[in-house]
Amino acid sequence: MKYAFPQDFWWGSASSAPQSEGESLSFGKSATIWDEWFRLQPERFNQQVGPQQTSDFYRCWRDDIALLKRLNHNSFRTSISWARLIPQGRGEVNPQAVAFYNQVIDEMLAQGITPFINLFHFDMPLAMQQQGGWESRAVVQAYAEFADVCFRLFGDRVKHWFTFNEPIVPVEGGYLYDFHYPNVVDFSRAATVAYHTMLAHALAVRNYRARGQDGEIGIILNLTPSYPRSANPADVQAANIADLMFNRSFLDPALRGSYPQELVALLRQHDQLPPCQAEDAALLAQGVVDLLGINYYQPRRIQCRDSLVNPDSPFMPEWFFSHYAMPGRKMNPYRGWEIYEKGIYDILTNLRENYGNPRCFISENGMGVEDERRFEQNGQIQDDYRIDFIREHLQWVHRGISEGSRCLGYHMWTFIDNWSWSNAYKNRYGFVQLDLASQQRTIKKSGEWFAATAAANGFEE
Ligand code: NOJ
Repeated sequence: MKYAFPQDFWWGSASSAPQSEGESLSFGKSATIWDEWFRLQPERFNQQVGPQQTSDFYRCWRDDIALLKRLNHNSFRTSISWARLIPQGRGEVNPQAVAFYNQVIDEMLAQGITPFINLFHFDMPLAMQQQGGWESRAVVQAYAEFADVCFRLFGDRVKHWFTFNEPIVPVEGGYLYDFHYPNVVDFSRAATVAYHTMLAHALAVRNYRARGQDGEIGIILNLTPSYPRSANPADVQAANIADLMFNRSFLDPALRGSYPQELVALLRQHDQLPPCQAEDAALLAQGVVDLLGINYYQPRRIQCRDSLVNPDSPFMPEWFFSHYAMPGRKMNPYRGWEIYEKGIYDILTNLRENYGNPRCFISENGMGVEDERRFEQNGQIQDDYRIDFIREHLQWVHRGISEGSRCLGYHMWTFIDNWSWSNAYKNRYGFVQLDLASQQRTIKKSGEWFAATAAANGFEE
């Protein structure tokens, strides 16, 4: 069967400033929460490898863009580092950063690669965190100013903007489950962070539109379908609550401009509503996006709780459900995540049936592999497992499109193996292998496969 994709389908990959640029404390850039956390607790980072040790995009951008071209990318997503562009979070703009991002954008365009630029990828400037981070409305305002500076400086050439990547992750990591700085575990603070993030998003969208810059603006969400263990109403209800908390708390404001009433009622009932102001609702309504990025890795398997919660324990999402390991599910043997290709189609179907079929694209999908050098033969990583992973997801994307979904592209995570938060290089995801010590890049078998697939605008089986 032939899997041909629509004309002008976006073929590419995604990365981010903090995971690829390096020079995290030089050329005028100030510290982010990652630099700070690494300074305070290096032992929490895999092999104590911190945010300085990346694939050095700050220096290698020209060669790396040539490599993107070699992989037949027609588009590529990265982010602009707030702490590099505006080192104090507010105020003065760093001219070295302006020159750097100008060069990157110009070179991408010269090579026929459309830049997709994201404005926040988990990298809160430390100066802003010290003022309360996303718990503070002043920081929301500062973010909107930063976004405006980006639109003003680069918006003549960048036509695809994203306000946030996976905004739930700093909420979960930083305020619920202790895997990001500031390592707080407190639902009500987490709810405030989530709410303020979406206010910041809406402000940026509103301001972008007010500029009339002839481009589009969206958000990138990691949508994890929640599948109940059984048709038993208690399991279905548990899966619905997980969906409300982890997906719809971002998806609904981004596509409908408001929060699901069920979620509001649930939080109100437990006295967990974040502090709202009278003008917020009108602002949120202006945050409906032009384009939705979908990151998909694995689903959630949800069951109702098998025991009652202690009502005196602090409120957490897990009051309502727990995860379970579905017997017989397909697993990524090299990382331990479930592989469920149909999930990507279920997301597209849900968007089509329940959210008015928005313009969207797959902004991340990919497979992390530990210790990937073991698959090296004759100097190249033979990552057939990654080719299978991408191909099988693309088949479901193709089916979604053939049923009417407006899915406009597929970006793989990621281009070159990159530094991944506290896991550092534990799981490798790239089309291109990175030797960290020598900075040598070697295209993996999957990179060659993707280049051929992009050139043919699809594949045959
Ligand atoms: C999602 C995030 O956007 C990215 O930063 C991360 O490295 C990948 N997933 C892989 O886990």
